[in-house]
Amino acid sequence: MNCLSPSILSADFSKLGEQIRLLDEAGADYVHIDVMDGSFVPSISFGCPVIRSIRSCTERLFDVHLMIDEPIRYIRDFAQAGADLITVHAESCRHLDRTIEEIKRQGVLAGVALNPSTPVDLIRHILPKVDMVLIMTVNPGFGGQELIPYTIDKVRELKQLLNDLSLKTDIEVDGGITLANVRQVLEAGANIIVAGSAVFRGDIRQNTESFLSVLKEKEVR
Ligand code: DX5
Ligand code: ZN
Repeated sequence: MNCLSPSILSADFSKLGEQIRLLDEAGADYVHIDVMDGSFVPSISFGCPVIRSIRSCTERLFDVHLMIDEPIRYIRDFAQAGADLITVHAESCRHLDRTIEEIKRQGVLAGVALNPSTPVDLIRHILPKVDMVLIMTVNPGFGGQELIPYTIDKVRELKQLLNDLSLKTDIEVDGGITLANVRQVLEAGANIIVAGSAVFRGDIRQNTESFLSVLKEKEVR
């Protein structure tokens, strides 16, 4: 199923609760929550206390994208703060298998993310253990960047690999997704769409509805 996961990194933090409720009312499926540590990526965003306090704003799935070094240290904390799906970067885990196992031990869904330059083949053996693969379509760290075109080829390659392995794992794309290029990533095989600036810049409700109508139109039956 195609899902929209608006990234609250682009929200107005002085009205965070209000804007999350707006996303919920407009029908957004997930809430994408970007956690950055200033080491794995240049920026620092927010952590567990923020997640805990927005948990009561919506029942939508909390899609927590950890851009932090050695995330295994914090998996339990994020699960307890209200994450439903925790995604870790293959590049940030010394022991990726152990980290994925820890996410599952906490009773939440597990995702693995790849930076633009990381080859898809790196995660081949872990694919049967994860619920979602996140293909970064920009270098992680900031909202509002432009999509790197070769990352769309990686989505196609991953989709093919999953088909070869008879897996129906979700493919999420994150970074630089707009109403102008979302059809392209859906056609390549992505089904979970993260959008930050394209949702929060301007009319949040209308932007959400516009994305959702493209997702519906492109649903593979
Ligand atoms: C980037 C983050 C993204 C970001 C996307 O490192 O992982 O989730 O918020 O923002 P846009 O859609 O503006 O590129
Ligand atoms: Zn993200």
